[in-house]
Amino acid sequence: MVQVVEAFNESKAEAFAQNLLGILNSGALALMTSIGHRTGLFDAMGQMQAATSQEIADAAGLNERYVREWLGAMVTGGFIEHNALTQTYFLPPEHAAFLTREATPNNIAVSLQLIPLLASVEDEILDCFEKGGGLPYSAYDRFHQVMAEDSAQTVVSALKDGILPLIPDGIDRLNRGIDVLDLGCGRGRALMEMASLFPNSNFTGIDFSKEAIADARSESTARGLTNIEFRVEDAAKFNECDRYDLIFTFDAIHDQAHPDLVLQAIHRALRKDGTYLMQDIRASSNVANNIDLPVAPFLYTVSCLHCMSVSLAMGGMGLGTMWGEELAFKMLRDAGFIGAELKQLDHDIMNNYYLCRKN
Ligand SMILES: C[S@@+](CC[C@H](N)C(=O)[O-])C[C@H]1O[C@@H](n2cnc3c(N)ncnc32)[C@H](O)[C@@H]1O
Repeated sequence: MVQVVEAFNESKAEAFAQNLLGILNSGALALMTSIGHRTGLFDAMGQMQAATSQEIADAAGLNERYVREWLGAMVTGGFIEHNALTQTYFLPPEHAAFLTREATPNNIAVSLQLIPLLASVEDEILDCFEKGGGLPYSAYDRFHQVMAEDSAQTVVSALKDGILPLIPDGIDRLNRGIDVLDLGCGRGRALMEMASLFPNSNFTGIDFSKEAIADARSESTARGLTNIEFRVEDAAKFNECDRYDLIFTFDAIHDQAHPDLVLQAIHRALRKDGTYLMQDIRASSNVANNIDLPVAPFLYTVSCLHCMSVSLAMGGMGLGTMWGEELAFKMLRDAGFIGAELKQLDHDIMNNYYLCRKN
């Protein structure tokens, strides 16, 4: 047999090396962007004219030496403009539009917090590469906080004008008064938004995280919502029949230990003519089809370091973030949802919305 050895392509190697250098800088900037968000530096600078590092540090209530080093990364990374003569720094409004809390739902700094969050479990994930298994949710500090901030942007802000209109007659029925469930609700912000928009309907949120549910309860009490209930419960053991008119899962199926059982439980819990809306990741089940997906490397990384891992930690299926549309449709059919429809929304390039009817 003749082995064909391809010649080493110098320009291909050079292009790849340049790409790697770009990744080195982008990775570093992701960490610094997360810090800019958490410290409030972007918010402070979004309100300021050009200012010195001391003025910026004072405005944010931070240590000047650290702020100056952070500014160095932000200036050389193209986030912030620097005037060497006046030694001042300026966050242009075109950049603030994607970096400040005021910019919600377009604050991309929120999602960049996921990079340090995932990196914090690298050592434990290395063990999993050797021995298999996974990490429990408790291994991820700040997971529910970051998740709630993230879905405040993609879900909460789009409910009224984007997500709920996907459901035929959904808004009319919510106005008249129906029973609604959010399974894997996390800190429950989406459900609280709906509870305040539709006082005639009743809302139930279920999550197995005591911490997330405690937070959801105290926030809903503070908001004076009386048509909402949050329960700590394992979705795989959820067993109610013909109880809800509308069920949501927001980004909460692919990381289940037993997503098959959860989908069956959802089908059982829906009333006749009830609707299930599943928001889950927009991707193919086949990696070859995901090459041109803009955020595929990010999503496979989230999967490997979190979503697949938390499922495997519980002896689960480990579907992972990128379980994909083909498998999603198959599992929906297996659970009894025949003829699920795929919907997409412009504001949410990472997710599909599967509209499923009980009958
Ligand atoms: C990716 S988060 C999404 C949270 C929320 N829906 C949102 O969009 O912010 C997945 C949620 O599912 C919850 N979860 C995972 N497995 C569960 C199970 N077996 N029973 C109940 N909740 C579960 C997690 O605690 C987490 O809050």
